[in-house]
Amino acid sequence: MNPIAEQLNETISRGNPSLMEMLSDVGKNLFFPKGILSQSAEAREKATRLNATIGIAKQEGGAMVLPSVMSCVSGLAPEESVTYAPSFGIPELRRKWQESLYEKNPSLAGKAVSLPVATNGITHAISTFADIWTDPDDVVIMPDMMWGNYSMIFNVRKKVRLSHYPMFTANGAYNVEGLAACLEKEAKNNQKVILLLNFPHNPTGYTVTETEADRIVKIVTDVAENGTNVIVVCDDAYFGLFYEEGVLGESIFTRLCESHPRLLAVKLDGATKENYVWGLRVGFLTYGTVVQGDAAPVYDALERKTAGCVRGNISNASHLSQSIVLRSMKDENYQAEKNEKYEVLKSRAQTVKSVLSDPKYASAWDVYPFNSGYFMCIRLKSVNAEKLRVHLLDNYGVGLISLGEHDLRVAFSCIEESEIRTLFDIVYQGVQDLS
Ligand SMILES: Cc1ncc(COP(=O)(O)O)c(C=O)c1O
Repeated sequence: MNPIAEQLNETISRGNPSLMEMLSDVGKNLFFPKGILSQSAEAREKATRLNATIGIAKQEGGAMVLPSVMSCVSGLAPEESVTYAPSFGIPELRRKWQESLYEKNPSLAGKAVSLPVATNGITHAISTFADIWTDPDDVVIMPDMMWGNYSMIFNVRKKVRLSHYPMFTANGAYNVEGLAACLEKEAKNNQKVILLLNFPHNPTGYTVTETEADRIVKIVTDVAENGTNVIVVCDDAYFGLFYEEGVLGESIFTRLCESHPRLLAVKLDGATKENYVWGLRVGFLTYGTVVQGDAAPVYDALERKTAGCVRGNISNASHLSQSIVLRSMKDENYQAEKNEKYEVLKSRAQTVKSVLSDPKYASAWDVYPFNSGYFMCIRLKSVNAEKLRVHLLDNYGVGLISLGEHDLRVAFSCIEESEIRTLFDIVYQGVQDLS
């Protein structure tokens, strides 16, 4: 093992020995290399005369650039756009994102969490998480309705087993008991279990209520108290888009991150969905756990391992993208702009609810519970979801996503409010055509 990795492991062990049991084999071996990076950093400070360390090209004191490239980048210097960003992410953006976590999650106040490490969108944050914290044959627990890419990341790429519980009970409530049963069963057979929570949820658009969140936190903490190491990974891709009273308005990460030494909470979030910059690919990975003594060195060690993982994979997330997100977050209109978009999506969600309360649809489908996010799902009663999807596409020019035999996912995030009734009437007509 590299001596730097050994040092990081010692620091982590001192602060919370359970974390060492949770790290994957790769995770234990990860470190942030000193080599060229630290020599360049030293040279940046001291090589005042000639600095021939960095793997970029320079000219006349600045980065060498093509004017045809820079003419597309308005308002950002080459040093903020075309040069490399650190593997950890731009320091100011990391601090700003961390500040925003405390603002968006008031009950995080007084709790210590790591600085977020920047990733290439949340997909890459999940995959980085999987590299550092999962070994083949580990288990990740998640509901049966889920974002399909989890299978690719955890199961196909990492050979991790997925263990599912039915997301909703027969009477349409979030299945906290099913989650508990699945977690307890897996905890009996494994020294480490990973629970993936995704609120607002893809595909259903469901976020747990405050009460359900409290119950989940209690269940998870009890499992940790009984001796199993638990990692709860919170995919908060659609964070903030909560539309109803009683719905948990903060990340469940907030409640989990200092709840038990055998419990590691990991928050995966980003600007992609929250700030409507999907293609800029800016995501973050943040840790929260119980640390004996000063938490800072332990978080620093975890951040170094995480940045080492980024370094060995994509090297660093786009500097241009990170700078755009940072500029936008520092803009005085940022919050007002976000509020405005939130209101648009909330109003669409309310219109979907009101349209779907029309009793005429009851013969064709049931509506899964939804209260947040970009999506909602219906469960078809009499026709096959894929058949209907193709029929709607071919005959009405309407595109939806079919999931399994019965479910259709509607991304109301991309439908204007004025088109929502038309959309569901066409789906209803499609059901009639095929019945
Ligand atoms: C639940 C969930 N997590 C993560 C992602 C990926 O987000 P990103 O575009 O930031 O990689 C998606 C995208 O569809 C998603 O639905």
